[in-house]
Amino acid sequence: MRVLVFSDADRAGAAAAAEIIAAFRDTPDGVLGVATGSTPEPLYARLRYAHATGALSLAAARAFALDEYVGLPAEHPQRYRNVLRAELVGDHRTGLRDTGLHTPDGLAADPHRAAADYDRDIRAAGGVDLQILGIGANGHIGFNEPGAATAGRTHVGALTEQTRRDNARFFGGELPRVPTHCITQGLGTICEARRILLLAFGARKAEAVRHLVAGEPTPAWPATVLQAHPSVTVFLDAAAAHSLGPDAAVEFVED
Ligand code: F6R
Repeated sequence: MRVLVFSDADRAGAAAAAEIIAAFRDTPDGVLGVATGSTPEPLYARLRYAHATGALSLAAARAFALDEYVGLPAEHPQRYRNVLRAELVGDHRTGLRDTGLHTPDGLAADPHRAAADYDRDIRAAGGVDLQILGIGANGHIGFNEPGAATAGRTHVGALTEQTRRDNARFFGGELPRVPTHCITQGLGTICEARRILLLAFGARKAEAVRHLVAGEPTPAWPATVLQAHPSVTVFLDAAAAHSLGPDAAVEFVED
């Protein structure tokens, strides 16, 4: 695991974007794994800028979301399919086609079956080449909350109270409006991505980052499963890195 520390989130997002731009220049029809939430926003802004300046096109790419809420109406702005459309889809964003964007079907009559279908779709696409990840304050990745099975596949999961509170800011601050369930790629599914870029910003993520980078692998901190992955790069701002001890093997990237 390579750990890079930047002075701020924007610089970290730019560095992660540079990796994606290079990868899709080499393999324009590759498979990108995409996260939602606040963390990837500076990265996505950089990808849009790169598209506007001709440095990137995701027109031939396929993108697979990590997760989706169960039961949000099709037009709801916080439905992850809609969030990702607004960030990435179209010629005025990254060139990604709507048909190239894959998200779990949170409105399926049988969400468990939709989860299994989604897992199969990722494999049928050849797997994820480059996966973008955020991390929850409790160490979740995707919506694999503490205790999730290390080898788990895409499944229906319940969001913890903490995650629902964390995400209430996207729902007008109203906890009852935050869905209780999601379909999420499992930890086993996520770890099949060939390369992983994990971003974490802000002091609220510092404890989860400490476990990710320097803790014992444990289901209590789901992201620690990434310690066994052969190609993970972690992009931190200074606040997210502040609980790493002086001996942690990190690289400080100068402005
Ligand atoms: C989002 C996702 C989550 C978030 C995590 C951090 O698709 O799967 O794991 O990455 O909850 O969220 P933010 O970035 O909003 O702090």
